[in-house]
Amino acid sequence: MSSSMIRCILLISSLMATVHVVVVAASFSIVDVSSSSAVGDPGMKRDGLRVAFEAWNFCNEVGTEAPLMGSPRAADCFDISSGEEGYHLSHKVTEHDNKLGVGDSFKGLDPKALHDPDLYAAEKELYLGNLCQVTKHKNDTTPWQFWMIMLKNGNYDTTSGLCPENGKPAPPFAPGRFPCFGSGCMNQPILVHQPTSITGSDSSPVMVGWFNGTYDDISSSSSASGNISYYEVTWQKKVGVGSWEFKHILRTSKNYPWLMLYLRADATKGFSGGYHYDTRGMLKILPESPNFKVKLRLDIKKGGGSKSQFYLIDMGSCWKNNGEPCDGDTSTDITRYSEMIINPETAAWCAPSALSNCPPYHITPNNTKIYRNDTARFPYGAYHYYCAPGNAQHLEKPYSTCDPYSNPQAQELVQLLPHPIWAEYGYPTKQGDGWEGDARTWELDVGGLSSRLYFYQDPGTKPAKRIWTSLDTGTEIFVSDKDEEAEWTVSDFDVIIT
Ligand SMILES: *[C@@H]1O[C@H](CO)[C@@H](O)[C@H](O)[C@H]1NC(C)=O
Ligand SMILES: *[C@@H]1O[C@H](CO)[C@@H](O)[C@H](O)[C@H]1NC(C)=O
Ligand SMILES: *[C@@H]1O[C@H](CO)[C@@H](O)[C@H](O)[C@H]1NC(C)=O
Ligand SMILES: *[C@@H]1O[C@H](CO)[C@@H](O)[C@H](O)[C@H]1NC(C)=O
Ligand SMILES: *[C@@H]1O[C@H](CO)[C@@H](O)[C@H](O)[C@H]1NC(C)=O
Repeated sequence: MSSSMIRCILLISSLMATVHVVVVAASFSIVDVSSSSAVGDPGMKRDGLRVAFEAWNFCNEVGTEAPLMGSPRAADCFDISSGEEGYHLSHKVTEHDNKLGVGDSFKGLDPKALHDPDLYAAEKELYLGNLCQVTKHKNDTTPWQFWMIMLKNGNYDTTSGLCPENGKPAPPFAPGRFPCFGSGCMNQPILVHQPTSITGSDSSPVMVGWFNGTYDDISSSSSASGNISYYEVTWQKKVGVGSWEFKHILRTSKNYPWLMLYLRADATKGFSGGYHYDTRGMLKILPESPNFKVKLRLDIKKGGGSKSQFYLIDMGSCWKNNGEPCDGDTSTDITRYSEMIINPETAAWCAPSALSNCPPYHITPNNTKIYRNDTARFPYGAYHYYCAPGNAQHLEKPYSTCDPYSNPQAQELVQLLPHPIWAEYGYPTKQGDGWEGDARTWELDVGGLSSRLYFYQDPGTKPAKRIWTSLDTGTEIFVSDKDEEAEWTVSDFDVIIT
């Protein structure tokens, strides 16, 4: 057994039954022989779709369910068969399942979760995962569940005391630091689901379905007079041909100026990026730096305005400051994120005059370390913003620490911008690459790049295994003072172990 295999098993074994561990070990032995896909549905080509929906509040929980909507977890999963009357979709998840909310029992529900909206949502995700799980695809028996559509509301009612500070309970504090129109600003959205069905002609059948909704109270008169927030994800595919296309729309409103919408490939078990509960997803093999690539097609019709931090790719993981894998203790687990932002209006906050917004050093593809105080050589323009975990004990001055409230635990962010130094990895090299009207199919050496990014660790500790539990794409419209709209399509998503 290679040491990486042992570490991976340790990472997930705390929550998993022995039988699952054996399956993971088996999937690693496949990797050893040749390159292969880490996702259950390589390139989004499988007709029998598996897609799910989750909505998060500011600290990645539920808080309170929206009236009549149930817990904000849902799924659309089906198998397709053909008969004399044409194609037939057999759905695995009913609308009753999708509407399950606190107080409703279901098979396998832990009684502790029955009346707790946060725990209930986490358990509902597992329940939907069971309904959607694919355990056999050709001769591969590694289970996987679904692509995940993730929606997040950036409002934070600081008087609620709802979000911990760097993973530790924190008292309420005065408003002003975060958007919030008042009590109820952290609400969950309306969710409308059109289950996938077949349209198009008999000779060219097309499968289509969608999720949509809003955060605004559409019954109130103030919403009727102005624009309201909106999200929509429509998936569409010709039977037997090409990839699913996921078309996204995200609109902010006066009351909801900070919204996020992503399509994620999450781990099929363990924790995914920013989520401290057992998760379900698409990554049946967890990719580890440097040996993986991400392939996707991204077509941005509308970028979403100057505040839209559009992530060509966002990767999320978790390890402790001493390099150990996360174990669910939010006081010491740290979410690690790195994002390539492709909005040409997003400027580098890292600069010779603002070293606190830069990582301490940059590492070139030939492994040369360039310190951020080396003004002649450091690629300032390649970094939008670096922030360190709020609970790191040995930070090099000057530094800035990440927002302590917007994750269930402390977080670290390495945000990148298009720059010639990323060319080696197939990343965008200049502002505007891949932006509105420049649809592209990308093959990103995410593994290679992420192996050379700076992430904080306590001095003298063994470097963390950089194992990524979420890979996603989409936008974060970051507190806009006007209503913004973004529109984009994602297809052909794959994660290739090299
Ligand atoms: C499936 O079987 C084929 C033929 O025996 C083999 O080439 C391939 O590697 C197998 N794939 C997996 C995922 O085991
Ligand atoms: C969701 O889409 C349907 C069909 O296009 C539309 O009728 C409905 O108004 C949309 N929902 C919202 C909240 O706009
Ligand atoms: C509503 O949206 C439209 C189109 O995006 C925009 O032109 C208009 O200014 C918005 N209205 C308000 C009140 O913000
Ligand atoms: C490594 O890359 C840096 C920056 O691109 C360059 O200045 C340096 O000469 C290279 N070193 C070697 C040994 O190739
Ligand atoms: C630049 O930073 C490095 C690492 O912090 C430090 O060792 C070095 O002395 C600094 N150089 C200058 C000129 O300040």
